[in-house]
Amino acid sequence: MKGQKIVLVTGAAGGIGTEVCRMFLSEGYKVVATHRPGKEEQAKNWLAQEKLESGDIQLLALDVSDHKAVSEVLSEKLRELGQIDVLVNNAGITRDTTFKKMSWEQWQEVMETNLNSLFSVTQPVFNQMCEQGSGRIINISSVNGLKGQYGQVNYSAAKAGMIGFTKALAAEGARFGVCVNAVAPGYTATPMVTAIREDVLDSIKATIPLKRLATTEEVAGAVLYLAGEHGGYVTGETLSVNGGLYMQ
Ligand code: CAA
Repeated sequence: MKGQKIVLVTGAAGGIGTEVCRMFLSEGYKVVATHRPGKEEQAKNWLAQEKLESGDIQLLALDVSDHKAVSEVLSEKLRELGQIDVLVNNAGITRDTTFKKMSWEQWQEVMETNLNSLFSVTQPVFNQMCEQGSGRIINISSVNGLKGQYGQVNYSAAKAGMIGFTKALAAEGARFGVCVNAVAPGYTATPMVTAIREDVLDSIKATIPLKRLATTEEVAGAVLYLAGEHGGYVTGETLSVNGGLYMQ
């Protein structure tokens, strides 16, 4: 009989990441939750505040934008775990501003954290999954990678890049039993979204056919579906959870 399943979630302490961890724990997974190095205390407080500490959850300090560090930390962690069943590439940041005013640093930071991290984090995990002959990789993209968003040229470019990455890796993973998909959340009730200026957020909400933000549970539920038994025939797909904001 196969043992307990293991999931690695990056950017775990964010709004969507937290809910993803909670749902995988309630499904009996062992969860490895990454946080930024140097934020160990905050990560422990997060576990306590979210009442996750009693679950089978391990914290892992990982700066997903640091390629060398990710290679070292993950290869050691994978050796220790021996197997990995699910990877959720969730870590992401925004540096919103109009393109005219966007600095190279604002472009680079978003690319490094949201897109380059996919190379660094996924490659060692993917290789391990191919050896095992099974695995699920789920990349958290965004409605704004599909439709483009005013003030988010950097973020939209990175999130669209995640979708191309997803499809290409799905093509390579299929022969090894590795499914690769993306979830494209719309505006979700998380600190990232509630940080948007109130008047701007109100005008965005008015354009959402369902007239509300997504809950984190609604997004995490899509991730769980793609990771679970009933998601086994889905690969290379982008699952939108956007309240009808963008219909492809
Ligand atoms: N389409 C067309 N024009 C727009 C527009 C839009 N969507 N949004 C704003 N404009 C126009 C405004 O009407 C305004 O025009 P006037 O000068 O003629 O009045 C002009 O652009 C400037 O707008 P702002 O006053 O908003 O400009 P600003 O410089 O103060 O702010 C901004 C710019 C920071 C980008 C701000 O517009 C903003 O925060 N926008 C929201 C960006 C956004 O949606 N971020 C999502 C974050 S959450 C996330 O990313 C999660 C996810 O995956 C969904």
